Amino acid sequence: MEFFETVAARRSIRKYQDTPVPRETVDRILEAARLSPSWCNRQCHRYIVVSDPEKRSMLGELIDNPSKACYETAPYAIVLCADSTDSGFNSGKEYYLVDCGISMEHVVLAATAEGLGTCWVGYFPENPVRNLLGIPQDVRVVAVTPLGVPAEAPKSRPRLPLENIVFEDGWQR
Ligand SMILES: Cc1cc2nc3c(=O)[nH]c(=O)nc-3n(C[C@H](O)[C@H](O)[C@H](O)COP(=O)(O)O)c2cc1C
Repeated sequence: MEFFETVAARRSIRKYQDTPVPRETVDRILEAARLSPSWCNRQCHRYIVVSDPEKRSMLGELIDNPSKACYETAPYAIVLCADSTDSGFNSGKEYYLVDCGISMEHVVLAATAEGLGTCWVGYFPENPVRNLLGIPQDVRVVAVTPLGVPAEAPKSRPRLPLENIVFEDGWQR
């Protein structure tokens, strides 16, 4: 899929088929994450690929967002973690979140290009997920996504027009 087609085709997918996805496809998607830029090239992102059905189900119980069923039917859940001290901090901005955001978006777009669905999930209880997956206390759990063949084709959600988000030569001009 051409880049701009991929960007336009991406949706947050909240219903999945239980169709298996080859591990090589997942590895290609994660390779896109590996190539993402980061603060001073520190590469603080770490991914846990959860394929074990029992663990996925437990993850779904804990997160239940967008729904427990996503984690049971999609063959993978991808959990993005980071050591927050392994990136930059400037003017109150924690760049590990930026690094992780870029990296996860590479995952999301690569999955779209492979015909697969994802849903960026940021709202979940961090400590229970840490405990389930053996993630150390000082490592942040930044995002989760189910990964699999979509069982829905949602319409595009509204976006602000360009003139609302792009200014010329100064704020709001
Ligand atoms: C940082 C971030 C966190 C998000 N967290 C959640 C979430 O916890 N649960 C959920 O269902 N969707 C979540 N989303 C998906 C957004 O709701 C979605 O991107 C937005 O509504 C636009 O829809 P679209 O992705 O289909 O274009 C998140 C997206 C981002 C970028």
